[in-house]
Amino acid sequence: MSETLSRIIGTGSALPDRVMTNADLEKIVDTSDQWITDRTGIRERRIAEEGEKLSDYAVKAARAALDAAGLEGSDIDMIVCATVTPDWHLPATACFIQQQLGARGPAFDLSAGCSGFLYAMGVGDAFLRTGAAKRVLLIGGELLSKYINWKDRSTCVIFADGAGAVVLESREGGRGVLETRLHADGSMADFISIPGGGTEHPPSHAMIDEGLHLIHMKGNETFKLAIRSLTAVCKEVCESRGIEPKDVDLFVPHQANIRIINAVGDRLGLGEAHTYVNIDRIGNTSAASIPIALDEAVRAGKVSENDLLLFAAFGAGLTWGASLVRW
Ligand code: UT7
Repeated sequence: MSETLSRIIGTGSALPDRVMTNADLEKIVDTSDQWITDRTGIRERRIAEEGEKLSDYAVKAARAALDAAGLEGSDIDMIVCATVTPDWHLPATACFIQQQLGARGPAFDLSAGCSGFLYAMGVGDAFLRTGAAKRVLLIGGELLSKYINWKDRSTCVIFADGAGAVVLESREGGRGVLETRLHADGSMADFISIPGGGTEHPPSHAMIDEGLHLIHMKGNETFKLAIRSLTAVCKEVCESRGIEPKDVDLFVPHQANIRIINAVGDRLGLGEAHTYVNIDRIGNTSAASIPIALDEAVRAGKVSENDLLLFAAFGAGLTWGASLVRW
């Protein structure tokens, strides 16, 4: 057990104060509390105020993770911020975060949709393994409400805002990130998208009139693929370490839909007692969902030393991945 691994030494999260319930959504679109609860598992979600930006929440989450690790911003030598909803297009939100924390070293954003946090884990772990960084701050944060089409009932009831963060440090002792497996298939790039504002559809009145700056999702097609791909990548990452999925102590999946979480849990032989779920309160916060869920689980005392944790996510790209962590 003396293997040197990237260990999660602190977690943090930050959510908007404002709660939007299903009853609130019933007043905006043709939907019902019952449909949303039955089809997604979401009862309420947090929505940022006008004028707030991603880094407001990312910095709060990061400070909480640093506090938990007993560190200052200046102890961090690399920041990766996974997001599709940055403060600005340029520069990276990670640079605003770095400046506020007083950290140093490289700082950059990473775009992998709802799999963004696990992609950041893969990158951070690789930098630590090569010795290129000593202590990495990983953030998953989204203010998806800024990109929601409040007339599209198939997306506006799902997406929500928040940020989560972890500090990763290289340590001996066999506890840390055991393995991360990441995948992408760009043939389904149009399944979940925000097409406007880039070089194909630069900002223009026409682009906005067409709603290209808002989130579009082929939900039902995504749903089936999510179950299949998440199950496969969880098995893949477990097999890589000779572990049976049923031996996982806590499964922390991306919170996209309770039916996806339960279907994947069933296929892996993981019971509800071994699966962390907060989608009922938090909704789908994309890249933020795993670090928020992890932080809640840690602070609620649901994670003990040497526990085996399995993270898994699926999202725009399409991208998916899983990570196995010895706590
Ligand atoms: O975050 C990472 C990636 N994203 C995902 O993993 C999301 C995966 N997809 C989903 O979670 C689900 O597909 C949704 C929750 C988005 C949609 O649920 P669904 O069971 O797949 O519904 P559907 O799209 O097949 O639509 C079924 C019916 C339709 O009505 P008709 O055509 O049968 O009359 C929709 O118009 O449900 C209707 N519908 C709604 N009804 C009430 C869609 N959204 C709503 C709504 N309220 N909010």
